[in-house]
Amino acid sequence: MDKIVALCKRRGFVFPSSEIYGGLGSTYDYGHYGVLLKRNVKDEWWRAMLQERDDIVALDAAILMSPKVWEASGHLESFTDPLVDCRRCGQRFRADHLDQLECPEKPSKPPGEGPNCDLTEARAFNLMFETTIGPVRESGAEIYLRPETAQGIFVDFPQVLQTSRKKPPFGIAQVGKSFRNEITPGNFVFRTREFEQMEMEFFVAPGEAPRWFEYWLEERMRWYVDLGIRPDRLRLRPHDADELSHYSSQTSDVEYLFPIGWSELEGIANRGDFDLRAHAEHSGKKLEYFDSGSGERYVPHVIEPAAGADRATLAFMVDAYDEEEIEGETRTVLRFHPRLAPVKVAVLPLVRKDGLPEIAQEVYASLKPVVQAEYDEGGSIGRRYRRQDEIGTPWSVTVDHQTTKDRTVTLRDRDSLEQARVAIDDLPGEIAGRLRAPWRSPKLAAA
Ligand code: GAP
Repeated sequence: MDKIVALCKRRGFVFPSSEIYGGLGSTYDYGHYGVLLKRNVKDEWWRAMLQERDDIVALDAAILMSPKVWEASGHLESFTDPLVDCRRCGQRFRADHLDQLECPEKPSKPPGEGPNCDLTEARAFNLMFETTIGPVRESGAEIYLRPETAQGIFVDFPQVLQTSRKKPPFGIAQVGKSFRNEITPGNFVFRTREFEQMEMEFFVAPGEAPRWFEYWLEERMRWYVDLGIRPDRLRLRPHDADELSHYSSQTSDVEYLFPIGWSELEGIANRGDFDLRAHAEHSGKKLEYFDSGSGERYVPHVIEPAAGADRATLAFMVDAYDEEEIEGETRTVLRFHPRLAPVKVAVLPLVRKDGLPEIAQEVYASLKPVVQAEYDEGGSIGRRYRRQDEIGTPWSVTVDHQTTKDRTVTLRDRDSLEQARVAIDDLPGEIAGRLRAPWRSPKLAAA
């Protein structure tokens, strides 16, 4: 994880937020390559949820919602973590994470195990960030930053049902920021207080929920594997009854083998009719489906695949990270699936003279409309290749002296290091074809 964090900072993928003021506990900013990478992760999610299907529609609900939403959803009462205080050092800890934490006093031990630790009983701490709406901080003006995007989908269910011309089984998908006042955030962007979720609520007839639950487990596992995650680093872990969230009757986590051990990447839950019923009760509105053909009326049950965009981005980075020895030098390379790579192709003139930069600029201009491309003429060609390897660019085009004679360039593959000679005019089609081709991690072959 330290190597990933260092690479992210060095290449400007992700770095601490507000750093000139000393940072703000576990908040991070995404720089250029980080934005491109996370955007590709989200685009692939949208592709799988919308573009390749006919039964899911998109939504972008507001982050600020009526506080009644959180009363109805149970978050005001139940979205809590158990918290203990140490009377000695004044620190607060998650009671269910004590074995993974360290008391700030020496000798370092888990809280409660140090010679002077004096922990209180555990108490429930609500994770929602509170703020006020309007110019006056008066009672009744309290609202919350949403802790999950899902509730926007539930409260908009009747509106979407009416306008989308869909009927169960169908889904509503949403990507957006969520906020949780985590007691122990950490491990880089794995657990932060502000993060992005990619959630989809799939509405089905009550009797069909178990079947759709199994279906989405398989679909979601496949998504990660198709995007290059090594299958032996992924697993499904069903929740024990005492782990289930207040709304769920059945949940399985997609877990990834992060450097910190097996950890949740995505939760897939059978939420039953909990949410629609709760909002119907609290709002007095009908949140149900009426099938005019059969005359049947029911409250749909919901299967929810809920993923984290930041956590998925981190998993793709961890899985892609590789080091290899080449001619006595260590090459650091991010072996991303080409569709996830922030930059698809780099255009590099071999030298900064002899008319090569001019041709390279022409090549760059022809590729830019097709894919995210980058032009680089600074430094030795070897250094420029290393730079592209480190940001995971799958292909580099080098314009050399032969180009001036026959208008061909070398196309270098990041993983195999093979160099093919390609005509300039064929490049956009060649790159587009390679992007569409099936891909598997070269780390699998090496293992
Ligand atoms: N609507 C259901 C829900 O929110 P969750 O398991 O609490 O379920 C879904 O969250 C996903 O959101 C997680 O699997 C994780 O990827 C991401 N996530 C949750 N809390 C996070 C945090 N503090 N930092 C980063 N990602 C988080």
